[in-house]
Amino acid sequence: MIDLGPAPFDRGPHVLVEHALRTSADGRVRVVGSHPDLGWQLATWCRVVGHRLEGDVVVRGGDRFARSLVSGHPDAVAANADPRWGLAVRGARVEDGAAELSFALADRDTAWDEDAPRLLAQAQAGQWDPATAVPWDEPFELPEPLEEAVVQVMTYLVENETAALLVPANLVPRLHPHYREVVGFLAVQMADEARHVEVFTRRIGLRGRSPGTSSRGGQASLATLVTERDPDVASFLLSVMGETSFLELLRFLQQHGPDPVTRAICRLAATDEARHVAFAVGRLRRRGDPALLDRLAAAVRAREAALRHTSGLDPHVFDALIVLASPTFDPEGVGVGFERVVELVGRMDRARRAMLVRLGFSPERATELSALHTRNFM
Ligand SMILES: [Fe+2]
Ligand SMILES: [Fe+2]
Repeated sequence: MIDLGPAPFDRGPHVLVEHALRTSADGRVRVVGSHPDLGWQLATWCRVVGHRLEGDVVVRGGDRFARSLVSGHPDAVAANADPRWGLAVRGARVEDGAAELSFALADRDTAWDEDAPRLLAQAQAGQWDPATAVPWDEPFELPEPLEEAVVQVMTYLVENETAALLVPANLVPRLHPHYREVVGFLAVQMADEARHVEVFTRRIGLRGRSPGTSSRGGQASLATLVTERDPDVASFLLSVMGETSFLELLRFLQQHGPDPVTRAICRLAATDEARHVAFAVGRLRRRGDPALLDRLAAAVRAREAALRHTSGLDPHVFDALIVLASPTFDPEGVGVGFERVVELVGRMDRARRAMLVRLGFSPERATELSALHTRNFM
């Protein structure tokens, strides 16, 4: 029996009755109280939720969730995620007739990766605050060619980071939320890229300069990434081919950046990029699917054919890298800078080949595919 005293029934006490019904052995609970409206309010409530009222005894009615569907198991991912599970958390009882939502990637083979929970935790722990992690106020003054070169490289980095943000953004709505750690990792990856856009943009204006140039060739290369509809190809071109190359560029800038802000933001971004590469490579590699490798190789060739008549890397970016890597701004110094940029391009190629071999390509095929990669680096 529940005695509500003077409390009005329509202001919350129904949860006490529900709880008592769930825990009572015979599904019957007597409800008494002194509020004048108790009788009719109790009767109305019973009718709405499907219980029966016998005098002042509530008799448990049918469970609306009796014909519910359980959305998998809380601690295990399903081989196939049902569209009828909708947005429910893993292991929820989903009411029969709830709205269905269909997702293109809804099976363990294409949507899941066993390493996703660990990498998601690592990604969340690795978030840094642009306001405190970067020494924005540290005093420095650069000679004009160096400041100009930093601004040009940052201009290029921002547009590449923007493409890197849009690729996972395209993927997320196509993944069944049952595979929530994969969705979560991609969401954190987007937050990483947004942070990179933020700090590189801030460095552009740090000494009052306007941004540099954005070339047709660079934009053409990035457009092929953001419009790619095959989710495996998109993540391969972005994270395995592009971000692996980009990681070498960030390390180069960490080494040759002429000021503490540039060096810090490139170092911080590189730690995030290494995680993005590891996630994509691991995920594609564990699929262990030879047909997938053929599809990825075909995509590299198709992209190369589409970009063959574009200029690739903005020449201003190439020149800015030479300036940054030159020990002195004279004919001998810029000769050293030039050689260092050539070495950087070679290091990018070796890094891509190593990743391609990790994915399962033969060394010969890796060499061929790496050489076809966009001259824009991303
Ligand atoms: Fe990034
Ligand atoms: Fe990235």
